[in-house]
Amino acid sequence: MSMHRRRLLQWLAASPFAATASAQLLPKSRLPDPIPWAALEPDKLIKSPKDAINVFDFEPVARQNVPPAHFGYMASGIDDEVTLRANREGFLKFQLRPRRLVDVEKVDMSTEILGVRYATPIMVAPVGGHRMFHPDGELATARGAKAGGHAMILSTATTTSVEEVSAARGAPVWYQLYATNKWDVAKAFVMRAEKAGCPVVAVTVDRSGGRNQETLFRLQRTDTRDCNTCHDRSSLQANLRRRSMYEGVDLTGLTHTQASSMTWDFLKRLRDTTKMKIVLKGILAHEDATLAVQNGMDGIIVSNHGARSEDSGRSTIDALPEILEAVKGRMPVLVDSGFRRGTDIAKALCMGAQAVCIGRPYIWGLGAFGQPGVERVLELLRIELHAIMQQLGAPSIKQLVPAMVRRA
Ligand SMILES: Cc1cc2nc3c(=O)[nH]c(=O)nc-3n(C[C@H](O)[C@H](O)[C@H](O)COP(=O)(O)O)c2cc1C
Repeated sequence: MSMHRRRLLQWLAASPFAATASAQLLPKSRLPDPIPWAALEPDKLIKSPKDAINVFDFEPVARQNVPPAHFGYMASGIDDEVTLRANREGFLKFQLRPRRLVDVEKVDMSTEILGVRYATPIMVAPVGGHRMFHPDGELATARGAKAGGHAMILSTATTTSVEEVSAARGAPVWYQLYATNKWDVAKAFVMRAEKAGCPVVAVTVDRSGGRNQETLFRLQRTDTRDCNTCHDRSSLQANLRRRSMYEGVDLTGLTHTQASSMTWDFLKRLRDTTKMKIVLKGILAHEDATLAVQNGMDGIIVSNHGARSEDSGRSTIDALPEILEAVKGRMPVLVDSGFRRGTDIAKALCMGAQAVCIGRPYIWGLGAFGQPGVERVLELLRIELHAIMQQLGAPSIKQLVPAMVRRA
């Protein structure tokens, strides 16, 4: 170790900043860095959505408002949460290559996704049980999404009906399917979503095994409320009674809400059952992307479920290039997991992703302030995307091209 570096480390250890900001935040190459002077202080909470400088400002407010067990459910990854960190750190593996002297006075962020034009390529990812985070639940989210023209994917585990959510969004939402172990249950969900006008069913294919959500279990222990007053755990069927999609469906024989035995045969059967477009959510390997094309799927979402499926250690931005290469433009490729900044979104769009779905950040907004929180989180992401599009010299989504991103 050089003398200079040793002195630097000694300075850091003795510095008052070491107590307030993790030394890891300080770059090794230079000092000073602005972060220690303006670190996000979790005890100084924003009082209104407009005070937020970035999406992270909402998380500590949500933490304060939402019961610890529910907050833990949202925040948790799996095991050592290596993938959760990788999803953020993955963006550091890629750099943007801005182009200059392009007229970017006007920026058009609208884009077509599966035949429908949306005002923005930023979509609302399916998250179960929004009433866990705010009494207005999915209706607040849908109204927040509507304000910015965002497409919304509604979870099978929704606490509000697909009909009401679509009405609040002002257009039918996409429907996310957890297939369960029983075909007739999946079929009932899909028929209802189709009847409600949903144009797309996003079949989640990445929840085939168990998971140890350690952060959830630890925070659950700190929750002093009696969970049994809301959750009927006497049986799976009783537990699902508060979930709108299961209403009126024969749940006899239901043992799982997700599906461990799902194969491509299920998708063939689904194709014969519905006219909705079918998108697979949770694809991470190019082999499966190729199979999705061969099996006539309409699109895929590259996702590791926000690091909630397996602790693979791989970010989705790292997996995206191999998927795009396999698909070769034959169907739209969407992506989610860990997207928090306009630059994150721009990197994926430059690579060739059609849209980017956001999970936890809008839930932070919802838990913090309800609909205005969701609205502001999505607005901040749009503002950041707009700014980086101008900086990159890309006045439209189509002009975000692979040459604008490189592996670091
Ligand atoms: C609290 C929570 C609940 C979720 N519920 C579902 C769900 O019901 N169905 C689904 O397909 N994905 C679900 N997801 C995964 C999201 O759709 C999405 O893939 C993920 O949140 C994206 O990562 P991010 O949270 O880092 O943005 C959930 C994620 C969270 C955080």
